[in-house]
Formats: sequence, C-alpha cells, structure tokens
Amino acid sequence: MADAQRPVEVAETTEAQIAVHWKEEEYYSPPASFVAQANLKDPAVNERFAEKNFPKCFEEYAEMLTWDKRWDTVLDTSEAPFWKWFVGGKLNVSRNCIDRHLAKYKNKAALISVPELEEESPVTVTYQELYVRVNEFAALLRDFAGLKAGDRVTIHMPMLPELPITMLACARLGVIHSVVFGGFSGEACGLRAADSGSRVLIYMDAYYRSGKLIDHKAAATETAVATAKANGQPIDKVLVWQRRPGKSSSDAPMVEGRDFFVEDLLPNYRGKRVEPVSMDANAPLFLMYTSGTTGKPKGCQHRTGGYLAYVTGTSKYIQDIHPEDVYWCMADIGWITGHSYIVYGPLSLAATSVLYEGVPNYPDPGRPWRIAERLDVNIFHTSPTAIRMLRKAGPDEPEKYNYHFKHMTTVGEPIEPEVWRWYNDVVGKREAVIVDTWWQTENGGFLCSTKPALDRMKPGSAGPGVPGIYPVIYDEKGEEIGAGTGKAGNICIRNPWPGIFQTIWGDPDRYVKQYYSKYCKNPKSKDWRDWPYFAGDGAVLAADGYFRILGRVDDVINVAGHRLGTKELESACLTVPQIAEAAVVPVVDEIKGRVPEIYVALKPGVAANKEVTDAVTSRLETMIGKIARPKKVHVVPDMPKTRSGKIMRRVLAAISNEMDTGDITTLANPDVVEQIRQAVQGKEKRVTREGPEDVKKFGEQE
Ligand code: WTA
Repeated sequence: MADAQRPVEVAETTEAQIAVHWKEEEYYSPPASFVAQANLKDPAVNERFAEKNFPKCFEEYAEMLTWDKRWDTVLDTSEAPFWKWFVGGKLNVSRNCIDRHLAKYKNKAALISVPELEEESPVTVTYQELYVRVNEFAALLRDFAGLKAGDRVTIHMPMLPELPITMLACARLGVIHSVVFGGFSGEACGLRAADSGSRVLIYMDAYYRSGKLIDHKAAATETAVATAKANGQPIDKVLVWQRRPGKSSSDAPMVEGRDFFVEDLLPNYRGKRVEPVSMDANAPLFLMYTSGTTGKPKGCQHRTGGYLAYVTGTSKYIQDIHPEDVYWCMADIGWITGHSYIVYGPLSLAATSVLYEGVPNYPDPGRPWRIAERLDVNIFHTSPTAIRMLRKAGPDEPEKYNYHFKHMTTVGEPIEPEVWRWYNDVVGKREAVIVDTWWQTENGGFLCSTKPALDRMKPGSAGPGVPGIYPVIYDEKGEEIGAGTGKAGNICIRNPWPGIFQTIWGDPDRYVKQYYSKYCKNPKSKDWRDWPYFAGDGAVLAADGYFRILGRVDDVINVAGHRLGTKELESACLTVPQIAEAAVVPVVDEIKGRVPEIYVALKPGVAANKEVTDAVTSRLETMIGKIARPKKVHVVPDMPKTRSGKIMRRVLAAISNEMDTGDITTLANPDVVEQIRQAVQGKEKRVTREGPEDVKKFGEQE
C-alpha cells in the first residue's frame, strides 16, 4: 500500500526516454464475493506460467479445447519470428464453439441478440439453434458459393446473430473470414476484399442505428464490388442476409446472377449437416485489418489452434466466464475485441454472449443498464469512450436499474483514473471487479491485465503481464527501463504467445520489419529470446510491476479505441481535387480520447471555402467511415516543413492541442507556424497544457 501512495519522482531523462509525471493511484481489492467464485483463484498460476515453464505452460490453455489430434510440439521457433504453436495438432473452431457443448448445453442460450428498437424483443439463439443455423449456412457456402478450406470471404455486417453464424460457418469449412466493421464504407470493404482475394462478399441489407433503419446494401455494396474490381479482384457472389427476414429493407436492386438473399436459398439446405473440417493448428482462421504507419491497412492473419486456445484461456481466467454467466461485451464484432471476446472465447467456454445491435445511448443513456437488468447480465465489457460518453450523458442512470455486475472490463485506450472510479462506483456499484486489458489486433488476446481474483486493481494501470506474457520497456537504444524509475519507453513482449498473429497477409517482410526488427538481437537467431515483439505503445512500469499505457508512439490515431492510420486519412484527403497537401494530427477529445484534425494546403489559384473543407470531411466518411470524421479541417497557406521538405506533424499537433510547439528553428519556413497558430487559436498565444505523451511524441519519427 505504502508504495502505491508514494508519488513517483520525476526522473532525469535522456533523449531516448520520455519523462512521465503523475501521482500513483491507490489500490482497490477485488470483492470477496467475486474471489469466492472465480475461475482463477490459485496464486500458483504465477509459478505455472513463469518463464522457466515457458512455452509448455500454454498447454494449460490448449487443453481447454477439444482436439481431433493432439499436438506434438508446443512452440516451433525454427522460422523465427514466424512462430508455430501446437504443431501437429488438428481441430475445428466451430466444433469447439458449438458441437462439443450440445450434450450438456444444447438448450442453453449461446447468443442473446438485442435489437436497437426497444419494442423488438431480444432474440435467443440456443446452442442447438446455433448448431442448426451454422450447419445450414455452411452447407450453403460450400455447395452454393463453392467455398472450401483456405478460401477467403469478406463479411461486412452489423451486430446481429447472422454475423457470428456466418463466421462460425466459415470456420466449420476452414474458410478464412475477413470481417470489416459494419460502420466502414463500401470503399474500405472493397479494398480489404481485394487485398485478401475474396470473390464472395457477405452483407446484411440493413440495420438500425440511432433509431433509423440504415440501408447498408445501398450505401456499401456497389462501391465495395467496384472498388474490389478496380483493385484486381472480381466479386462473383454477394450473399445478403435480411434484417427483417422475408422482406427486403434495401432500395438497392439485387444484381441478377450476383446478388442472392440468403433467406431465399436457405430452404434448400434445411436439415443439412456439415462435418467440421479438421484444420491444422497453424492454418489461418481469419484476417482482421488494422491501420499501420503506411496508407495501406494490414491484414493481421490469425491462426486456428493457438488463437482459440489463447482466447479461451484468457476468457476463462481474466474474463472469469462460466457457462452460467450472462456475458455482455458492448464492442462491435467488426473489431478484434468482438472476435476474441464476443464470439470465439465466450462460445468456446459455452457462455451466453449478448449482442447489441445499436448505439449505447439510444433512445437514452439508460439503455445499457435496462439491457443489463432485463437479461441479468453479470459480466460487462466496454471501452473508455463508451464509459466517458455514458458518464457525461447520464451520470446517475445506472442506479435506477436493478442489475449486478460481478466483473467489468475496460479495453481499447487508456482510461483516466476519474473515469475508472465512475465505472467502479456508479456502473459497478462497488460490487464488481474491474480489469483494464491492454492488447492489440495483432495480439489475439490480452497482454496486460490484473488477474481479477488475485491482483489488486489500480485505476489507470493495465497491470502486469497476464499469465505467460513477459513484458518489458525499452528505451530507443534498446536499454531496459526498470520498474519504479518514472521513465517511459516502448513496451515490448519478450516472448511469443499462442494468440500472436502469424503474419501480415501477403506481406511477411512488413510483419518482420514493423514488429520485430526494432529490438531484434540477432536476425539469424532461432531463439525466441532474441526477438522481442514491439507493440508501438509508450508505457511506464511502476515499482509494483504494473504497466501504465500512454498511447501510440507512431503516427496512428486511436479514435474511440480504434486505430486509424494517419497516412490512410491523408491519402483520402488528397483525393479532393483542390488539395495539394494534407496532414492529419490527433486532438484530445473529452469523449473519444483522440480525434483526427486535418490541415490542408490548397493548389495554387484555389480559394479556401466551406465547399473544400466539407469535401474533405465527406471524403473521409466515404473512403473510411464516420469514425474518421475530423473535428476540424483547417486550410493553411503552407505546411510547416523541414529543410528536406517533410511536413512537421508534431508542430501541427502542438497547435491543435494548445501545447508548446517546441523548437521550430530547424524548419524551412518557421514563419508559417505563427500564421497557422493564429488562424487556429486566434491572436492570443495559447499554451494551455503540457499534453499527453502520445500527442507529444506524435510525428516524432519523421
Ligand atoms: C490501445 C484493441 C491503454 C493501445 C484491443 C493499443 C490501450 C491499441 C488499451 C490497439 C488499454 C488498447 N489501455 N491503451 N487497456 N487497450 N489500447 O488494435 O494504444 O484496435 O496499441 O486493439 O489500443 O488497438 P486495437
């Protein structure tokens, strides 16, 4: 306790390090009622998963699954850093998430789907029903769409049971799915379809959002097909689920011979059963695209056996999921959190997983708590953005509803201690344990978190590495930054783990370069100890061994817990014909954490007007999605540039965030900085804050 209350002293830092200033937070202990029922309450787990037992310790997770053939080798490092897990093993993910539960749980809810309109009742899909629907749809995919193991399929669907049904049907056949977040545009979907080589797209015609029926097919399908084609990938079939079965909700015409309503075809497959295809443990299960430092999204390729073992083990130990629980993760299945902790981890444990179609504040900010009350949810999982939004819109709402959470998760971005405390006191009613789980799309599952029944919580800190994960902080030169120094650096994971992605689809060089080259001790080595995984996040390690994550160190902007690549946004801006140059920077936002702000310079002879700035906003919305909507678009006479002509995004980020612009004497055009500052902030010089570490570091790599 004493340690936790002592303020961290501000340390002298070198250029390779970042100084961090904040006070240490106090600890919170898990409620005794939680500890009594927890899956993981034996502290011997620390010993079992200690480095001396690595990699064998992860057999404990693999043994939670049903294998068609047991593995021969736990970890094969012969092609480091392309790790192979549970080599020689064979299994099927759909069998693990469905078939194996039937004997005991066939009549239990697997999914409870809550439509956004409150007058529509929740829909329950039992394990038996899930089994039937997944089998019939798998038969359709195989026999009608001609799909087989190893083929790729792109899925662009909202949060309804048909989405996990589609994913599990793919997994049953060994077809590699690539789910694109439903809120992304048709163009974003088409690019991903082309990159993955999908000739089949799966859509739903419509969904509800903030009370309105959105015509998803009209908004996205034609653009997706055209974009895929323009990028070399013809689409020969578009399968369309109906939001209101039996009736079309879209004005878009069905293209003859290409578009098919699933509901029209399914009767042909009634009663069909598809034997799950026994897949190699290292066969890819799915691709999940995420933003990187270049314009092109990366298809993170996740494997079958290691991934499922890892999400199952962490769902059991960190999420504390029991089959009797009602578990609700409010994320979208279109992101990695939804894949790992709505679909695969929970279903593999025979849990009841809740899906909610809509936005949390529709029709009012009491909605999540009404859902929790009605379904008697006892495990709740969401992001700081949603928590901040609900706190702002309805700070007193939770107490009006009679629900009781035993466990709550926060994920996706750093959570401010203030916000954490509201989550604990008001949402959790001080009855729940909280885990702050730090991880990434590339990682498959949690990397840092407290073990809910064993470790005390500390607001704002993710905690230590989860079992079998050995994190470390390095400075720019590769020197380890120890615990309790008050210095921040780059958080890395020293070892591979079963949930780590296999590679970037079609770009293995980029996989090595981006994640493993920075701190690799010897590129020829086959020893995992020489290959620390570089996460790209800044972090600081307290004396108690808890990691506090400071945010991205590269030029990726985390909006509401989701990464957007600045280069990707900038190239979208440049498609507006009047624009000569564009720079995107993160600006601190009370609700969403960070949002993009855009600076554009116009082509000679073009006048600045609202049409141009509106065009930029609408390009971002159509090319990426509403999530990329900028806070502001500033037209500037010129960009601040280095003598070699590079745009200094760091300076623009400082102006947008009212931070000190630092040394600008090395710029080719230092005068423009003051002009831009005045245009953005007005005449008075405004430096209102020191700024968070990620914003301070933004653009530093240039
Ligand atoms: C950030 C989401 C602080 C981090 C699962 C990471 C977090 C990026 C946390 C990955 C957390 C995620 N505390 N920051 N608990 N969780 N992040 O790929 O910057 O969408 O690198 O995966 O989110 O975002 P991604």
